Amino acid sequence: MQHTFLFRKHLSTLAGLVLAVLGATTSPLPAQDTITDTIDTATNGIIATPVIPVLQVKADQVSAQVSPMLYGLMTEEINFSYEGGLYGELVRNRTFKASTNAPVYWDKVGGAVISLDTNQPLNAALNVSLKLDTSKASKDSPVGIANSGYWGIAVRPNTTYHASFYAKGEHFDGPLTISLLHVDTNHPTLTYHTSDGSVTKGLEAGSTMPGVSATIPKISGDWQKYEVTLTTGDIQPSKDNQLVISTTKPGTFFNHHGTVWFQQVSLFPPTYNNRANGNRPDIMQLLADMHPKFLRLPGGNYLEGDYINERFDWKKTIGDVSQRPGHRSPWNYWSTDGFGLMEYLNWCEDLHMEPLLAVFAGYALKHDYIKPGPDLQPYVQDALDEIEYVSGDTNTIWGAQRAIDGHPAPFPLHYVEVGNEDWFDRSGTYDGRFAQFYDAIKGKYPQLQIISTIGNDRPESQRVQSRTPDLADEHYYRTQEQMEAQSHVYDTRSRTNQTKVFVGEWATRVGRPTPNMAGALGDAAWMCCMERNSDIVLLESYAPLFVNVSDLARGGSMQWPSDLIGYDALTSYGSPSYYAQVMFSTHHGDNVLATDSQDIPTHPWQPPQRTRNGVPQGERPAPQQIPSIFYDATRDSQSGTIYLKVVNRQDTAQTVHIQISGVASIEAQGTAIVLKADSPDDTNSIQEPTKIVPATESVDGLGTDFTREFPPYSITILELKAK
Ligand code: AHR
Repeated sequence: MQHTFLFRKHLSTLAGLVLAVLGATTSPLPAQDTITDTIDTATNGIIATPVIPVLQVKADQVSAQVSPMLYGLMTEEINFSYEGGLYGELVRNRTFKASTNAPVYWDKVGGAVISLDTNQPLNAALNVSLKLDTSKASKDSPVGIANSGYWGIAVRPNTTYHASFYAKGEHFDGPLTISLLHVDTNHPTLTYHTSDGSVTKGLEAGSTMPGVSATIPKISGDWQKYEVTLTTGDIQPSKDNQLVISTTKPGTFFNHHGTVWFQQVSLFPPTYNNRANGNRPDIMQLLADMHPKFLRLPGGNYLEGDYINERFDWKKTIGDVSQRPGHRSPWNYWSTDGFGLMEYLNWCEDLHMEPLLAVFAGYALKHDYIKPGPDLQPYVQDALDEIEYVSGDTNTIWGAQRAIDGHPAPFPLHYVEVGNEDWFDRSGTYDGRFAQFYDAIKGKYPQLQIISTIGNDRPESQRVQSRTPDLADEHYYRTQEQMEAQSHVYDTRSRTNQTKVFVGEWATRVGRPTPNMAGALGDAAWMCCMERNSDIVLLESYAPLFVNVSDLARGGSMQWPSDLIGYDALTSYGSPSYYAQVMFSTHHGDNVLATDSQDIPTHPWQPPQRTRNGVPQGERPAPQQIPSIFYDATRDSQSGTIYLKVVNRQDTAQTVHIQISGVASIEAQGTAIVLKADSPDDTNSIQEPTKIVPATESVDGLGTDFTREFPPYSITILELKAK
């Protein structure tokens, strides 16, 4: 991209005069377009002196308070976020409901015959089972079932895994051997991990594998749950592994086919905080490092479902996992709902964040909707019950159920969102649906803040009219330039609107599967805007949060690029955008300080033309000059520390003259936290997880008036000790 820098002509006294006038305002809007002439350095012969941009921080002018809840997370089952992601479960399609045609993601071992069987349900929820014909088993040739997990099963050294399953036999009473087997991708014969670290080839009959296999000697003729632990030895960590359940015994009676049925075959590694049915520690740690304040759950489209019967029906996602039927997610894969409402809440508790509960509001993605009125009432009641489950005392019906489910203490709850992206609802019922939910929820829980899904960025006529939502949710999926172009949008938003802003989904969508440095720069420009305007922007959450990067082909592990955190079965990493968020959410004060600037460089941008079905609509928008430097300043009212954030999106270093007024002094020594890259395309990945990470350095020569050079493609937070 061509950059145009701003130069002030030597004799431009008129421009200097305008600068003096505009410099007196406290608006952080870039004033440079009106105060200097723009000269393309490549084509213009005029001798010019580069103008050093000036950035003023007015430490005695607090323009807003930083919302204590500003930085949060948004989540849903997309891109294998839970199953195949955060959720610890290692077995894919553990309930055999991912397809009604075949036991997908299951392999047969040896001469096994396997099939789905609806005649032997475990219960009404798990109403199908996997049938294994054992009759071909022999001492030299075991038969069984094998699962390769979500693009692999991570197996680590000296680690204990918890395997469990339901089974019943007919003319078969055991034994069953449960093993973790390494699949050598060069020689795809099954191999055993052994506790001494060596690997034995072949699925050997009757082998006993200390530590990585366990045997259940007897299988009942009725459904029963079986559990074993498998502890690895000093092996190499790998993801090329299978869970295998096998037998060498054909059956109990000669001439009868031995049969064994399975349901809910599960394998768990150690989890974060050692929670049963818990989460993957590496991904949890990445999230913990973000210090999020809230979690918007459970979606997104995942809340709504394609059809009303495919919504997130929370009552079917709680209690014993074997009683959860599961459902198809709108992102086109099966969810067992092992990761249900209580698991979301435990996740919140583990990371000291609050749930921001989105309740199903009677509208599904393929335009199914429920009219406001009596038809909607059961859904309103469901939402009231859900709020009670999350936050009610144990003397309430649903609070008591929560206690039965293992958590007597209520979870903190302050925000409830009614639906998701209801601007898609062409029936025009959102106002009525919102009002019905709003009245019922406020009637019972007046302290709750109710969020509309139609943001203040939408035309007034689309927004909720009949009630005043406490907040409204705005979504921004943008290119880098679009983010930069809108980086001052909230500076001029109404301060009198009662409805505050929740930016519930946003991302600079540059880079796949995870954003690159260009994405991080766009995000940082946008975060400066949100933080600077945190008097009206009370909450924000990037989306989507997660992506399994194992299979990026269509229909694979990713439905939506660009996503903040990537992982495969074994390892995970944060994108440059992730590190930009960590920097922002962990380095800010409670006061937003007034700022001003002059001579901020800009670059040209051609906004895209609106199209419908690929056909351009209306006139091509006029090209714009948009800023190349972004900033905001906050101060910790207790310690006095000023956090000055500066984003340089240019391909050259940028010197900035920084003036801080309203303080007696700034200590000469401070700290800079810098995220930078050599190219906007640079990124992190499974192979290079920490190519771009923030570096912290001590800085000298600070004061109330200093210059600093900001590297190309960089995000910097200066911590200034003010007195
Ligand atoms: O974040 C991906 C999707 O984008 C969300 O599910 C939906 O709310 C939005 O359209």
